[in-house]
Amino acid sequence: MSRTVYVNGAYVPEEDAKISVFDRGFLFADGVYEVTSVLGGKLIDFEGHAKRLERSLSELDMPAPCTMDELLEIHRELVRANGIDEGLVYLQVTRGAADRDFAYPADAVPSLVLFTQSKPGLAANPVADKGISVISIEDQRWGRRDIKTVQLLYPSMGKMMAKAAGADDAWMVEDGAVTEGTSNNAYIVKGNTIVTRHLGNEILHGITRAAVLRMAQEAQMQVEERSFTLEEAAAADEAFVTSASTFVMPVVSLDGAQIGTGKPGPVAARLREIYLEESLAKAI
Ligand code: PDD
Repeated sequence: MSRTVYVNGAYVPEEDAKISVFDRGFLFADGVYEVTSVLGGKLIDFEGHAKRLERSLSELDMPAPCTMDELLEIHRELVRANGIDEGLVYLQVTRGAADRDFAYPADAVPSLVLFTQSKPGLAANPVADKGISVISIEDQRWGRRDIKTVQLLYPSMGKMMAKAAGADDAWMVEDGAVTEGTSNNAYIVKGNTIVTRHLGNEILHGITRAAVLRMAQEAQMQVEERSFTLEEAAAADEAFVTSASTFVMPVVSLDGAQIGTGKPGPVAARLREIYLEESLAKAI
């Protein structure tokens, strides 16, 4: 069955959802996006995603296509129209269509596209019981990774490098320190301390990251926001990643060597449990 997709003011069947070849998202990756998870037919942390979207837009001097309240309504309508119980809502704003020119056009009208992806079993994901494997790769992305732009080619290449190595994902490394995963934030646990890279231009400011760190502190866990090396990761008791599509996902091996016991650790398991419980209770 065809999905209902939102394109610039209209709800249309996916085969009729079209964008101009002159759209700057297509020509220049001049666009930003958000991915919001849906559990029990409700949106997880919509406000966090809406705030980050506003920030991404403002960093690129891109006008917002509508108000955040209107965006919420579009999210809800798509979840309803497509009968999504567990899954994702993808949202993309681009600067719009204009004759090709590197300079931002003065008169372009932003494009807004949203679609859903149904993912039954997102919360009760059996992969979380086993954990995932990662390899390390050099971080070759641009310098403004805090802006959630649609230029995702290097992360895509990173996933393919992981696949070719028989692993699930890649952690990117810059100046000897781990930045983040291809599409998630990275953490290690040593003793009672959770370590994850501090915020800056080098990583995406994950919405799941913010919630998980707050919940960890509320549960009296120690948190250090600082760079960590691959050597530290290799010697960690456990590791995990967070994102809107995986929540908290244990990482059990790095570059072919097991981390800790080689099984998901208690900290990641507990944080996944707390995150899912609290987020579901607050979903809108
Ligand atoms: N990716 N870092 C990167 C590079 C990401 O692409 C993502 C999210 C995150 C985690 O952010 P959040 O917790 O807000 O999802 C960190 C999304 C899920 C994606 O591109 O599909």
